[in-house]
Amino acid sequence: MRVYIGSDHAGFAVKGFVKELLEKRGYEVEDLGTHSSERVDYPDYAKKVAEAVAKDSESFGVLICGTGIGMSIAANKVKGIRAAEVHDYYTAQMARAHNNANVLCFGERVVGKGVIESIIEAWCTTPFEGGRHAERVAKIMALEE
Ligand code: RB5
Repeated sequence: MRVYIGSDHAGFAVKGFVKELLEKRGYEVEDLGTHSSERVDYPDYAKKVAEAVAKDSESFGVLICGTGIGMSIAANKVKGIRAAEVHDYYTAQMARAHNNANVLCFGERVVGKGVIESIIEAWCTTPFEGGRHAERVAKIMALEE
C-alpha cells in the first residue's frame, strides 16, 4: 500500500521519522515535500498529498504542520478526502474506525516522537468498522455534491 506524505517547515523535522515508521511496516512511502526547513505555505503540500490520495483509492496520506490544523482544513477541501487531525492513539484509532479517514494530520509542535509512534500504530492497525458508520461517512461525502 502506498502512502503519500507531506509537511510544511513546521513539520519537516519529524517527517523523516514518520516515513521510517511507515516503511518499517511495509508501506511504500512517497515524499511530496517540503524538502527543507525553509518557510513554505502548508496549503501547497496539503493540496499535493490530498490530490494524490484522491486519485489512488488504495492509498492514504500523512500531513504534518505545526498544529495539524491548517493541513487538515486544506486537505478537506479536496474532493474525496477525509482528513483527520489527531492528537493521540485514541483519536487516530477513531479516525479510522468511525470516520474512515484517508489522510492523517498532526502537529509537530503538539506531539512528541513517542506519541507519534502510538498514532502510527493506531492508524495502521485499525480497520474501518463500517455498518452505521458507513452510513454517516456516506452523508459526509454527500456534502461534496
Ligand atoms: C506555521 O507557522 C504554522 O502556522 C503551520 O505549520 C500550521 O500549524 C498551520 O495550521
